[in-house]
Amino acid sequence: MSFVARDLVLLWAMFLLLLCIQCSGSSMKTEAKIKSAVFLSPKFELGPGSVVNGYYYDIGFPRGHVALKSFNAEVVDESGNPVPLHETYLHHWLVVRYHQSKHATQNSDNVLIRNSGICQGNTLGQYFGLGSETRGTATDIPDPFGIEIGNPEEIPEGFHEKWLLNVHAIDTRGTKDKLGCTECKCELYNVTVDEYGRSIRPDYKGGLLCCYDSKQCKLKEGFEGPKRSLYLRYTVKWVDWDDFIVPVKIYILDVTDTLKLSDNSKGMNSDHDCKNEYQVESCSTDHKEGNSCVHEKRTSLPFQTGGYMIYGAAHQHSGGIGSTLYGQDGRVICSSIPSYGNGSEAGNEAGYIVGMSTCYPKSGSVKIIDGETLTLESNYNSTKEHTGVMGLFYLLVAEQLPYQHFRHSTRSSFFMDINNILLDN
Ligand SMILES: *[C@@H]1O[C@H](CO)[C@@H](O)[C@H](O)[C@H]1NC(C)=O
Ligand SMILES: *[C@@H]1O[C@H](CO)[C@@H](O)[C@H](O)[C@H]1NC(C)=O
Ligand SMILES: *[C@@H]1O[C@H](CO)[C@@H](O)[C@H](O)[C@H]1NC(C)=O
Repeated sequence: MSFVARDLVLLWAMFLLLLCIQCSGSSMKTEAKIKSAVFLSPKFELGPGSVVNGYYYDIGFPRGHVALKSFNAEVVDESGNPVPLHETYLHHWLVVRYHQSKHATQNSDNVLIRNSGICQGNTLGQYFGLGSETRGTATDIPDPFGIEIGNPEEIPEGFHEKWLLNVHAIDTRGTKDKLGCTECKCELYNVTVDEYGRSIRPDYKGGLLCCYDSKQCKLKEGFEGPKRSLYLRYTVKWVDWDDFIVPVKIYILDVTDTLKLSDNSKGMNSDHDCKNEYQVESCSTDHKEGNSCVHEKRTSLPFQTGGYMIYGAAHQHSGGIGSTLYGQDGRVICSSIPSYGNGSEAGNEAGYIVGMSTCYPKSGSVKIIDGETLTLESNYNSTKEHTGVMGLFYLLVAEQLPYQHFRHSTRSSFFMDINNILLDN
């Protein structure tokens, strides 16, 4: 008995040791192979008070079958100098994946490849996207995880994989009310109909409907300033794909998501209505006794396929004081808090959100169960009214952990052999 038992223990120890060597080997390997490239978006021009909401197709991006490891961006001028938010407010930028037919003649033929969820339609399908907090928000994906792109098996015959960049920026130099312009207050833009000529309902005080491309925010009397040329400069890091990389799925949750459950004969169908933005009433107009001047918004959403959270970060606008994602049992999955600048230089602009804290749980320690209902909470300081605010949560989820992944990947036959030896004994 003791002979077999000792053998088993020895073999088991060997197995664990080899597993460790294999794991650390893979992360060393991944670190060594990290590639990085800096790209410039097409040029956009902004004069004082003006707005750009540009869609740039087929931007510079890593090609081939790779795993993305990070995406960082900032607005720069023609000399490459970072532009501070109090001059050019970066409302948001989004990076969207699409498939373009080799015979396509127009952009409407492109097939958008959405992230894993859970909003529907054309909103919040991006792979990356942030706003004013861009310079101070970590986006690195820890080893051995990565966002898999360019897998030839997933690109349909006759199509190319391409990337679209949307940049929405507002030049607030010389404006009468900088915060109002960044919050897209309709009266400052003198806007009563949206981009498509539809009239805007009277109780809509501000938001994306009022600061569309080429709109103009109100300037101080007599202010004049030069137009200037700007770019979004972005840095992408990636590694070539290999079987040791564990893919993560991208989820973007929206606190304005009102889930409509519809019954049909086959069961329940869900319909996510994500409105992107909402309004925060000022606590003085919101006559509640003992109002703490914190506006809290919550939504509960079922998460169909769970996994392990690898990274989490919220997106909020000025006035935001933090956002938390809770599990069904009330545990905190991730809490993300904005940091505000207190200077004037790019990256530290007073009064602006210059970074969001992120969650990097120890691998495997934060698990979301299949079908678990998550609750997203977004809090704003309501001392002042805020229009067009957002409450998003960006999550990266791995459906398997490295050890499980290796067991299932083609290179794991060695481990299977060891397991077989153990079982044979
Ligand atoms: C605001 O818009 C209206 C109609 O679109 C126009 O008649 C008016 O001159 C504009 N006001 C300003 C200050 O631009
Ligand atoms: C800004 O905040 C930092 C960190 O909290 C602090 O060290 C610094 O003194 C502050 N600067 C100003 C000008 O208030
Ligand atoms: C909200 O903002 C006001 C004024 O800027 C500030 O005095 C107050 O402490 C803030 N409250 C919270 C909860 O951050």
